[in-house]
Amino acid sequence: MPTPTIPLINGIPALGLGTYPLSSATCIDTIRMAIGLGYRHIDTAQMYGNEREVGEAIAACGVARDQLFITTKVDPSNLGQARFAESVKRSVDALGGSPDLLLIHWPPPDAEIDAALDLLAAELQAGRTRRIGVSNFTPRMLRQAVNRLGKVIACNQVEFHPLLDQTALKATADELGLPLVAYSPIARGKTFAIPAVQAAAARHGCSANEVVLRWIIQQGVVAIPKTDKRAHAESNLRALSLELSADEMSATASSATRSGRTINGSWMAGRWDD
Ligand SMILES: NC(=O)c1ccc[n+]([C@@H]2O[C@H](COP(=O)([O-])OP(=O)(O)OC[C@H]3O[C@@H](n4cnc5c(N)ncnc54)[C@H](OP(=O)(O)O)[C@@H]3O)[C@@H](O)[C@H]2O)c1
Repeated sequence: MPTPTIPLINGIPALGLGTYPLSSATCIDTIRMAIGLGYRHIDTAQMYGNEREVGEAIAACGVARDQLFITTKVDPSNLGQARFAESVKRSVDALGGSPDLLLIHWPPPDAEIDAALDLLAAELQAGRTRRIGVSNFTPRMLRQAVNRLGKVIACNQVEFHPLLDQTALKATADELGLPLVAYSPIARGKTFAIPAVQAAAARHGCSANEVVLRWIIQQGVVAIPKTDKRAHAESNLRALSLELSADEMSATASSATRSGRTINGSWMAGRWDD
């Protein structure tokens, strides 16, 4: 398979590799395999406990660091003044250098969001990351982030796939001029059963994951599916060369509901429409 060129969405490679819950040698081998196939965007987090393995894999992969795009996320337990910067220094050490994108992983339950955003911005100023962004922010929180820090917010990483209606959040992100990054983009396989996805896959002679990932990317949303299987990683990449019709896009979207989450997320449960 020739190495594909992965388009950028707001400077972020449109298809990346999720790394939760990869660990130890499987994590290193999977990342090296994916980079060998052409992946350049790797998503990790302090919470996943695998930043050191990500660092080892990218050091050994044979692709120059400036050709890679590494995202990590500050754990909710590290969002306070006393722990934020130290935790990011540990991430930088584990990764073998600064990430390309540093996110607040989950907004804090006690809503000290402005303080956490200021600490995030300080990491950018200190040069410990190339970009900053947020994750699991609701429309109201996303407006708050942009009001506080401006256009420097590079993305909002959220659950996004055709079983979950994210219309309101997408409209807010579009209005603010920043992209969403889709986690759980295939809803851990549940999206494969959507009749419109199966119909499009049959029409294009491809597999359901390709339709689902293409549906995401074709909307200008970045997708970061996790797989440790070479065949799945190759198949997910093929989404880049598919093109869905307007009818296929809307038919795929028609299965989405507000309750279609795969991950409901502790204290955020019930607050997503905020
Ligand atoms: N910011 C956040 O709060 C947050 C939350 C959740 C996840 N994430 C990030 O998003 C990434 C992806 O999300 P996720 O792991 O929850 O869900 P996902 O990517 O939707 O689904 C992963 C599952 O799908 C399978 N899979 C992947 N490609 C496949 C293919 N082509 N055919 C069949 N099965 C396939 C994988 O199995 P195999 O490995 O066997 O292929 C795995 O079991 C995570 O790894 C993490 O980096 C972020």
